[in-house]
Amino acid sequence: MQRYLRNCWYMAGWADEVGPLGLARQILGMPVFVYRLADGSPAALLDRCPHRFAPLSMGERDGDAVVCAYHGLRFGPDGQCLHNPFAQRIPAGATVRAFAAIERDGIVWLWGGDPGAADPALIPDFGFVPDGPGRRSVRGYTLMKANYEYGTDNLMDLSHIEFVHKGSFAGDGVIFAGEHSVRQDGETLHSDWWMPNIPPPMVAQGLVAAGETVDHWLRMRWNAPASMRLDVGATPHGAPQSHGFDIPQAHILTPANADETHYFWSASRNHDLNSTETDQAMIDLFRQAFDAEDKPMIEAAYANVKDNLRSGGDFWAEKPLSLGIDQGGTRARRLLEKMIGGEAAHG
Ligand code: FES
Ligand SMILES: [Fe+2]
Repeated sequence: MQRYLRNCWYMAGWADEVGPLGLARQILGMPVFVYRLADGSPAALLDRCPHRFAPLSMGERDGDAVVCAYHGLRFGPDGQCLHNPFAQRIPAGATVRAFAAIERDGIVWLWGGDPGAADPALIPDFGFVPDGPGRRSVRGYTLMKANYEYGTDNLMDLSHIEFVHKGSFAGDGVIFAGEHSVRQDGETLHSDWWMPNIPPPMVAQGLVAAGETVDHWLRMRWNAPASMRLDVGATPHGAPQSHGFDIPQAHILTPANADETHYFWSASRNHDLNSTETDQAMIDLFRQAFDAEDKPMIEAAYANVKDNLRSGGDFWAEKPLSLGIDQGGTRARRLLEKMIGGEAAHG
């Protein structure tokens, strides 16, 4: 049985996915309905009426309340039933689970635990995601048929670039010229690659004259449960990093259930700010990399262990070989386990 970290923020969706009809999405194995209150702020309810279990997302909105489409019970954003069309009395138990939800950085975040414990200070910083002065981003989403921690393994260990991403980012061996380090800062992990004095990889073409080299970096930041920021950058060899470029990316994974993951990604640039062609070129590149390259590999690897996990085993029982380069993923798994264990210990 999958255990999730409860007291943390999960990305429910991009803010612009929550339109007038709201957004129905499975999160942590639960159907969730996210919608907007009259003041524009998001609210989230379990998408299951307590009467005969109709999805509330099929219902109508009445101000800040949601009216079930099946027999008309009306629920406020706190999950309390406000109206029973068949009697004055509101039956005991006529409540639906409500979640704390916040919109920040163009993202709607959902708190996995008791709404009273929701702490907005714990939302990781993705301030680069929305378009802003001198900044423009592209965004995407894909549903991955694998447990979310297998997605974390992939992102925290970018050594796979050389093998999986031959059709997109493959760097002609640059990873092998790199130094990899993993460090922990509080409950934030960093898995960083530093590749000095290398021929420019695909992302850095045009940065230096023919025959010159660059310093290249890939820096991944992880926050529980699986919210990651990747900085991809390069500068002429020996020049300050501010002389080159840095493309911050969001890679945020939210479990739909034990076997499926919502994968949200974005990339922000500081050039070609009005170019829809550049938008499309970036989207095409990322779709190739994530949908056509990462996703089939992660799904196939997960399919190979899934049945064993079902019968009570876990990732470690599969005795995964360690190559050292994978320590970012390993540390993320261990830290998340510790955090989940801490919650279990404290009820
Ligand atoms: S199922 Fe919602 S009111 Fe009956
Ligand atoms: Fe990848």
